[in-house]
Amino acid sequence: MSLSPAFLDELRARTSLSTLIGRTVKVQKAGREYKACCPFHNEKTPSFTINDEKGFYHCFGCGAHGDAIRWMTDQRGLPFMEAVKELAQAAGMDVPAPDPRAARRAEQTRGLHDVMAAAQGFFEEQLGGIDGAEARAYLQRRGISDATRRAFGFGYSPDSRGKLKTALKDFGESVLIEAGLLIDPDGAEPDSGKTSKRDSYDRFRGRLMLPIRDIRGRVIAFGGRILGQGEPKYLNSPDTPLFDKGRTLYNIDRASPASRRSGRIVVVEGYMDAIALAQAGFAEAVAPLGTALTEHQIERLWKMADVPILCFDGDSAGQKAAIRAAARALPLLRPGMSLAFATLPGGQDPDDLIRAEGSAAMETVLGSSEPLVERLWKHEHGAAPLDTPEQRAALKQRLSALTDAIAHPDVRAHYVQAFRERYDALFFARRPAFASGPRHSPRTGGGNWQRDRRGNWKPPLPPAGTEVRAIGESGMEQRLLRAVLASLLRHPEQIALHREMLSGLQIADSALAQLLDAMIAASFRKETVETQGLLTILGQGEVYNMAKGMLRADTFTFTPHRMTADPGRAARDLDEAIRVMAQGPELEMNLAAATRRAMEDVSEANLSAQQQALTAHRNHLARLAELAQSEDII
Ligand code: UTP
Ligand code: MN
Repeated sequence: MSLSPAFLDELRARTSLSTLIGRTVKVQKAGREYKACCPFHNEKTPSFTINDEKGFYHCFGCGAHGDAIRWMTDQRGLPFMEAVKELAQAAGMDVPAPDPRAARRAEQTRGLHDVMAAAQGFFEEQLGGIDGAEARAYLQRRGISDATRRAFGFGYSPDSRGKLKTALKDFGESVLIEAGLLIDPDGAEPDSGKTSKRDSYDRFRGRLMLPIRDIRGRVIAFGGRILGQGEPKYLNSPDTPLFDKGRTLYNIDRASPASRRSGRIVVVEGYMDAIALAQAGFAEAVAPLGTALTEHQIERLWKMADVPILCFDGDSAGQKAAIRAAARALPLLRPGMSLAFATLPGGQDPDDLIRAEGSAAMETVLGSSEPLVERLWKHEHGAAPLDTPEQRAALKQRLSALTDAIAHPDVRAHYVQAFRERYDALFFARRPAFASGPRHSPRTGGGNWQRDRRGNWKPPLPPAGTEVRAIGESGMEQRLLRAVLASLLRHPEQIALHREMLSGLQIADSALAQLLDAMIAASFRKETVETQGLLTILGQGEVYNMAKGMLRADTFTFTPHRMTADPGRAARDLDEAIRVMAQGPELEMNLAAATRRAMEDVSEANLSAQQQALTAHRNHLARLAELAQSEDII
């Protein structure tokens, strides 16, 4: 529905901004304006000003700025239309209804809101009355204070089939049924042809009642907890015109403004967890209602904070739910927007932890939450044994399935890279690279990566006394390397086939090293990477230009454009070239070691064997370089 600018102007004009803001923060008159401590950031001296005449607020501290509608959306967290409606109501204006059907629906929901408010009043009254004694005792046992009880609107539904029905009879039976407060036994099968009509009866009986509110604080549904043992533990309202479970977050009305102050939003599994957190001073907690987090709920969370913290139960069901939420978030990820995961010790839920160890323990758990990428890696890494090549390859497949699900290209590329680093560190312990002098490769290759005390991966330190020469320091090698890379660019499907060896190459030239890194990273994404796709990943710049150059017809490759007689032959040559190149540094290292030993007069024979091996290797290299050259000269 679009609203006319004239209507919005009128709405702003009729709203006193200082009065509106004054309901949330203390405002002081200062000349023609008002001043307050800014509700959008923490401060002790007021730098937030309100100008009623112009109808806007501005904070000189943090730059927060807006009009009355903006205040309602940014500070109160209301969707735009809700903000307009609430302001219009306060200003005594009618929001223009677009069509009669919508108007009728609005009328109907207004009726349902009234019913829910009346039911809430009834349940609260019951909790305070004679029937509520057991429920009050239960609350006390669970350590719920009176203030918390009032803030969260706890109530009690008497153990009777008709007390609510009688108390709210003025609304009419059909509205009570539609609001989910009464169960209509014939409702499920209205056309079954039965003539005798059975009576409707109270849905919630003998339960501790928790109102579920929308962002504006209106009751839209209830959850009822059994007192003591029994099934179901929580009985919830069915979906109604007011209540769509998958779009609702319990406690959002209180958590949303709190999240603006703390910059944080916490997602817990249960009603009582959100309540226990609030009582312990963490007002910014919401709970989905007994189902997996939906896409809609994830988007809603991102309106409150960039990286919501999921703090699900420490049992296996809770951890499964966390992974399910992680998977659901992947297609939605955007730069800056993610999820974090806080893990509770020993199968506890947040309520248990706070009661056992207090709010400091909770703060520690929230403070040590781990990023989505780490949680996913840990999950896949721990999901199955990794002893055989097949099992290891299966891990890689599971990781690519995850990255494939990420829609945003930049986010996906970084996930591919992050998983690749962890995967390589696990299985492809690389030789350490340390060329002498400044020309050495920037790649962080080699050796086993280690985790430091905080769990971050760190590249290995070079073992003392080993110096491996990087590839490309001799002209011939450099030429061969370029031919290999050019071939891979034209036939990217070859990258994955040689990945292990390619990952081990230590390259002196940094642009060539970057190109190879990008190719390896891309090869993790899908089994088939396209040449064009590779170029796209490289973006613009030195490496891109070099790659473009390599695709020109006169570059030396093992895989010429002119289809020569035997494509299999070209693939074999490429394979051989990669293998020989990978061996080079090791052969030279062996030779150096043998030379040292020879000088220490240990074994002359060994030295000459190493020398011969290296000479053979150089010859081999020369032959391959020539091969690459001659194949493609036009
Ligand atoms: P839990 O079983 O973890 O409950 O369910 P809890 O929050 O720890 O409850 P207490 O501490 O025993 O009172 C987590 C959430 O799943 C939904 C509710 O929203 C609950 O808070 N749930 C659970 C249901 O909707 N129905 C059920 O029968 C059980
Ligand atoms: Mn619990």
